[in-house]
Amino acid sequence: MAVDYTTRDGVAVITLNNPPVNGLGHSTRTGIVEGLGRANSDPAVSAIVITGAGKAFSGGADITEFNTPKATQEPTLHTVIKEVEKSAKPVVAAIHSVAMGGGLELALGAHYRIAAPGAQIALPEVKLGILPGAGGTQRLPRAIGLEAALNMIVTGAPVLSEKLANSGPNAGLFDAMAQGDLLDEAVAFARKAADKQSPHPLVRNRKIEHPNAEGFLQFSRNTVAAMSKHYPAPLKCVDAIAAGVKQGFEKGLVFERECFLELVQTPESRALRHAFFGERAASKIPDVPSSTPTREIQKVAVIGAGTMGGGITMNFLNAGVPVTLLETKQEALDRGLATIRKNYEAQVKKGKLTAEKLEARMALLRTTLSWDDLKEADLIIEAVFEELGVKEQVFKRLDEVAKPGAILASNTSTLDVDKIAAFTKRPQDVVGLHFFSPANVMKLLEVVRGKDTAKDVLATVMQIAKQIRKTAVVSGVCDGFIGNRMIEQYVRQALYMLEEGALPAQVDRAIEKFGFAMGPFRMSDLAGNDIGWAIRKRRYQEKPDIKYSKVADRLCELGRFGQKTGAGWYDYKAGERNALPSKLVDDMIVAYSKEVGVERRKISDEEIVERLVYALVNEGAKILEEGIASKASDIDMVYLTGYGFPLWRGGPMLYADTVGLYNVARAIRRYAQQPNGDAWQIASSVADLAGNGGTFN
Ligand code: 3HC
Ligand code: NAI
Repeated sequence: MAVDYTTRDGVAVITLNNPPVNGLGHSTRTGIVEGLGRANSDPAVSAIVITGAGKAFSGGADITEFNTPKATQEPTLHTVIKEVEKSAKPVVAAIHSVAMGGGLELALGAHYRIAAPGAQIALPEVKLGILPGAGGTQRLPRAIGLEAALNMIVTGAPVLSEKLANSGPNAGLFDAMAQGDLLDEAVAFARKAADKQSPHPLVRNRKIEHPNAEGFLQFSRNTVAAMSKHYPAPLKCVDAIAAGVKQGFEKGLVFERECFLELVQTPESRALRHAFFGERAASKIPDVPSSTPTREIQKVAVIGAGTMGGGITMNFLNAGVPVTLLETKQEALDRGLATIRKNYEAQVKKGKLTAEKLEARMALLRTTLSWDDLKEADLIIEAVFEELGVKEQVFKRLDEVAKPGAILASNTSTLDVDKIAAFTKRPQDVVGLHFFSPANVMKLLEVVRGKDTAKDVLATVMQIAKQIRKTAVVSGVCDGFIGNRMIEQYVRQALYMLEEGALPAQVDRAIEKFGFAMGPFRMSDLAGNDIGWAIRKRRYQEKPDIKYSKVADRLCELGRFGQKTGAGWYDYKAGERNALPSKLVDDMIVAYSKEVGVERRKISDEEIVERLVYALVNEGAKILEEGIASKASDIDMVYLTGYGFPLWRGGPMLYADTVGLYNVARAIRRYAQQPNGDAWQIASSVADLAGNGGTFN
């Protein structure tokens, strides 16, 4: 049973006990109803306390039950809350740690609420693409006032319990804040409440006071609509609150329920829930159990104070971990240090960081030119030039100076981590930590597992990733790892489409309309077209049998490296980042088609999106088949957190499932028949799943 029942001083204590977060799954709901019945029929009990065991009061409805029969199996959460409200003996919710979603809705049904300070209170349903479906949109405005409630519901953001004690124009959320032991005080509170005359107060009976509710709701509707274009849930939250304001509690409740049932079926909600679980699943490595011991990481060293080294360093300083930063020359160190400080100062200017915190973070940073200063480091991350020879020098040196058991990590984006590990006599301690630029901002961290990387090294870096707030995804060793290997096929298609009849602005527009933050050509102009050029030159030598369009090379031959040279696929006005279509480039593309004997044709936006996205899907499928990624959701997390794939579509693999693999396979086979079709070797898993109606997720 997911609920414990005990009595104390004539008070029944119903304790939700469904680890890890006391989700309100079917067995928990059943337990609460049984507990209420038992307490009400026991003459020795005068009042009831509901609380949660472990690290939460409750994290809300059990999300894993959504869209399964269990979700609607009685007692539903609505029934549970009704039973709480109906209880003849007063019910006190004793809240600590976390009360979210259905957990808070349950507490709102109680007659009284007492909270420990520091508890996180939220209705975060909107982050899962739904709305509070058990009365939250009706009761919270009655508890803390219309404006505060709407804000909490539409953003889903947590608020500390002490900020909600008797706040707002209404009576407030909590009747008392615990000063000492929560349960002791809740039991004492309940005994006193039992002495009061029934009926005991219910939030549903409070009035929503607001001088201009209609005007405020209209304003909210406009603001929310503008801010949540791809997501239906936030606007539905406003609608449900408005229904309660205009038509009263009961009708509002019915409307909220309808909205919930509608939203939970939407692809956006499915995508957001996929991302929620995908992020947590990514931290689990199939053959590295959670019991794997970890190494202690107290001191970090970073080698190279360039673009990546500086950003990587900031992650650790932000988390309070001291960093020693090593360079070859004092000027490089000074430059790196100045950039770090400048980045922090920009945050101070925006009010995101205090001047004291800036100094506290800088105080954790030590710079050096001496390798001896790396002796104490528990984790050393290399971010030097992307040349195997340079990496060799660095790792041989590290092998000499690093203390036994130190983790030696490389931020390489293209080199073979196994080769790098072989430069040392301790390949078990070597791992790839592939940060994305800007490393202090981007959420994604690809953890590259070499053939010898020790399990405790993996367990440790996954833990560290959490500490520095990254979404870590494990990748095996291959060219480009998960993300860049897939993007290569995407870019390959983008270039072919230029050759066949599209222009950069059309390709970018189509895929940005699909939801990508930036199309391939704007992105390439931002990153620098010379980077891809260098990689392609290497490819032409290493893989001469693979065909590529050379149109991007022509662009680079013109010196158009992108924003940094003021010209790339687009023109740029000095000091501006706006991409302006370039007649010169467009003419060059048309001339290139002629030169390679391709008759240009009109390419539809639909074809652009399919070819770009299915190129990702097809390569992602191969990555899964080879075991480079251990699950499809890992690939989705890489694309959601590192490549600007639209969150509301859930990542390339979930998107493929949504479109249906039969349709994906059919399109791939069709494109394989077109000119440049040799880029489409259908992945066997795509073909198989298309045949048997299966999905990646
Ligand atoms: N349902 C099912 N599982 C849940 C869950 C939930 N509501 N909340 C958390 N979990 C699971 C996680 O998947 C994870 O499982 P795992 O160990 O197998 O990976 C485990 O609990 C621990 O979660 P975290 O790693 O996130 O633990 P933290 O301690 O860092 O955070 C938390 C705890 C703040 C509760 C965080 O998990 C969270 O934000 N959960 C989601 C809360 C939420 O969205 N609630 C609303 C649910 S919808 C609802 O209530 C509908 C209602 O209105 C009808
Ligand atoms: P960068 O050129 O900006 O910085 C490299 C720094 O390393 C320079 O400051 C250089 O002085 C220093 N350095 C070179 N040899 C050294 C040595 N032997 N000892 C100490 N310092 C040394 O390069 P960037 O862009 O920061 O890249 C670094 C690494 O990160 C490369 O492996 C690159 O592939 C990888 N990477 C780069 C990304 C990017 O977007 N720039 C993204 C992800 C990974």
